[in-house]
Amino acid sequence: MGKERLDKILATTGRWSRREAGALIRRGAVLVDGEPVRSPDTKTDPETSVVTAEGERLVWRRYTWVMLNKPAGYLSATEDGRGTTVLDLLPRELQRQGLFPVGRLDKDTEGLLLLTNEGPLAHALLSPKRHVDKVYYARVDGCLNEGDCAAFADGLSLSDGLECLPAKLEILPGTGGTEALVTLREGKFHQVKRMLASRGAPVVYLERVQMAGLELDRSLPRGDFRFLTENELAILQKFV
Ligand code: URA
Repeated sequence: MGKERLDKILATTGRWSRREAGALIRRGAVLVDGEPVRSPDTKTDPETSVVTAEGERLVWRRYTWVMLNKPAGYLSATEDGRGTTVLDLLPRELQRQGLFPVGRLDKDTEGLLLLTNEGPLAHALLSPKRHVDKVYYARVDGCLNEGDCAAFADGLSLSDGLECLPAKLEILPGTGGTEALVTLREGKFHQVKRMLASRGAPVVYLERVQMAGLELDRSLPRGDFRFLTENELAILQKFV
């Protein structure tokens, strides 16, 4: 990265806006290599210097990865004429880092969405060749049964021509066949909805609960995000 303004370095973590970072620095709460630095425009190299803010060491990462608990009503895109994309749920400092969603969820689908500015790893996760698992919780208008599970396992042939890879359908106990987990290793347009509709059980609610071995963090309120942990990043790295 080279040298950058200290307020900008703090702001790229997403924890503070540029203005908040400036105030923190002026207050003397930010140390570079153990020395307080009080002017926000001081140039620092975060890869070679130790920066601490309010006593906590800043973990510098070249790329940003966040987990968003997507609510319904937002498009998985970086731009939309009506301004309702998932990027609108992130603070401005993160929006400026060129984050994009890793794959798409439909506008009405909720749950786990990863966003990053690390192109190669994101593309590896999306590559059809990698068969990255995605798990969805679905509520349907209809009643799923063991025959549907077997049909999913065999690989569905949809009347619209889509040949699906074998997938897992697990009916959730005590739901009378109205709720299930669906595990796919591919991600075609509206795929879960199309697959379940083909079995006479149209989706009324869909939430992604897992992707590439990462679980949706249930402590994240809908519409909130957090940075991925080191463990989670290590899980994703296995796909490169
Ligand atoms: N399958 C769908 O039908 N919709 C989604 O949003 C994701 C998978």
